[in-house]
Amino acid sequence: MTNKLLLSLGFIAAALVLGGQAHAQKFDQLAKTPQLGWNSWNTFACNVNENMIREMADAMVSSGMKEVGYEYINIDDCWHGERDKQGFIQVDKKNFPSGMKALADYVHSKGLKIGLYSDAGATTCAGRAGSRGHEYQDAVTYASWGIDYVKYDWCDTKDINPKSAYATMRDAIYKAGRPMLFSICEWGDNKPWEWATDVGHSWRTTGDIYPCWNCEHNHGSWSSWGVLPILDKQAGLRKYAGPGHWNDMDMMEVGNGMTEEEDRAHFSLWAIMASPLIAGNDLRNMSEATKKILTHKDTLAINQDKLGVQAMKWIDEGDFEIFVKPLEKGEFAVLFLNRADAATTYSLDWAFHYMKDDISKHEIFFDKKKFNWRDIWSDEKGSTAEKLTINVPAHGVRVLRLIPQ
Ligand code: GAL
Repeated sequence: MTNKLLLSLGFIAAALVLGGQAHAQKFDQLAKTPQLGWNSWNTFACNVNENMIREMADAMVSSGMKEVGYEYINIDDCWHGERDKQGFIQVDKKNFPSGMKALADYVHSKGLKIGLYSDAGATTCAGRAGSRGHEYQDAVTYASWGIDYVKYDWCDTKDINPKSAYATMRDAIYKAGRPMLFSICEWGDNKPWEWATDVGHSWRTTGDIYPCWNCEHNHGSWSSWGVLPILDKQAGLRKYAGPGHWNDMDMMEVGNGMTEEEDRAHFSLWAIMASPLIAGNDLRNMSEATKKILTHKDTLAINQDKLGVQAMKWIDEGDFEIFVKPLEKGEFAVLFLNRADAATTYSLDWAFHYMKDDISKHEIFFDKKKFNWRDIWSDEKGSTAEKLTINVPAHGVRVLRLIPQ
């Protein structure tokens, strides 16, 4: 081979690599703050149909959820029919007789966005057609329907490489040309926080959630988890979260059977941990208490703070823990968590405490720097110049917002 020929082959190879890289991106402007929405799985599992989804979009508006920032209506597993002769995915015609485009148009007409679920393997977790080998076809199909969000699961993936499987779908979505938020769901098995910042907009950190405070629900070969086990599995992950790439603690179980206090704690914890907040209850018939929790503006403001820093555990006293989330303008959210079965009273003399966050580079000497605080649920007010004595209900939280004096 002549040198000239070698040189041109080299150029071609370099161009191919660079060309490949040019497509290797996700849509950058999405999920600058954690995504807010609703997903069908926790309540409906495989029982999804277009009427129910339409009603859920209506309820997101009429309940006031849209007004406070919820945006996505996500259809989880089981919307799929068969692939056609060319391999394009079809909807389940019985449950979605008007087709996905019409449903997306309806959701958009309400000022909301719509999401779908697929899987990196040949079949989804419920045994429907997965995207393996059809990634580009599926992304183009979703784009043509007007889909805004893709949750991508990890069942039936055999020995495929997670990083490349998720990057392939990311590239397919980018190539399809419609901004679709890419939500990685491989349960944290392959530590996506270490490799997915440029791949997805969020990644599940754990297996599935279960509506209980502190349980493991055993399904045989796998378990689902209550609020506290999921919280505890976030240890060490906060440094990986930030605008455009969040640790996803799973769709919420607010309104799905826990006590009101537990629901409030669950919601507050997911919010302060900067997790996506995806409701998983039936929005059409929420109790007033559930609605009040899901639409609580001050909690949502903590979750949606533009700094995009996940809370850190500041003080750990076993059953009593204090989390701190740095916010914009030098403010902080402080969450007192009582994991125990009995109410407790906690005393905190701020002046004797020091808070240092290596990730966001904040440090507070509470003897020197004073804050006014407000309890975001009860509206009680105070100052860090005075010792705090706070009652925290069993399985509950209190959340203060600290504002520099
Ligand atoms: C699981 C996933 C759930 C739900 C379900 C659908 O793997 O974690 O959130 O999507 O599959 O079959």
